[in-house]
Amino acid sequence: MDGTADALVAAARRVRRNAYAPYSGFAVGAVLVAEDGRWYHGVNVECAAFPAGLCAERAALAAAVTDGQRGITAIAVAGPGADPVTPCGVCRQALAEFGTDVAVLCAGEEGEPVSRRLAALLPEAFGPGSLQR
Ligand code: THU
Repeated sequence: MDGTADALVAAARRVRRNAYAPYSGFAVGAVLVAEDGRWYHGVNVECAAFPAGLCAERAALAAAVTDGQRGITAIAVAGPGADPVTPCGVCRQALAEFGTDVAVLCAGEEGEPVSRRLAALLPEAFGPGSLQR
């Protein structure tokens, strides 16, 4: 990983301390990089009404869009344990709304993260262009 990727993963690991995950105990942090280089943090926010819970990646995405961003270049995701956490299917789809040429850095609590392209995590994605018929 290069320096920026290292810093992104470190930030995702730090912010996961703010996760609200009393039901699963599975705290996740995410840091998204927008097209202009700005970073947006997110954590998972669970809910007693379970389906209302939100993943860290979509929390970071909402923060970026709220700030006026419409393009993503990278996102780092960090969860518990040794194995890298990869985004759930719903988050893959939500991120793909803003393009699939996105570096996805997947990390556990420590150890070497894995880097994937969103296009590889969500092949043949349905996206905004798919609505044009
Ligand atoms: N979760 C995330 O926030 N991101 C992921 O990439 C995987 C799963 C959350 C959802 C739920 O709050 C908890 O982790 C367990 O699934």
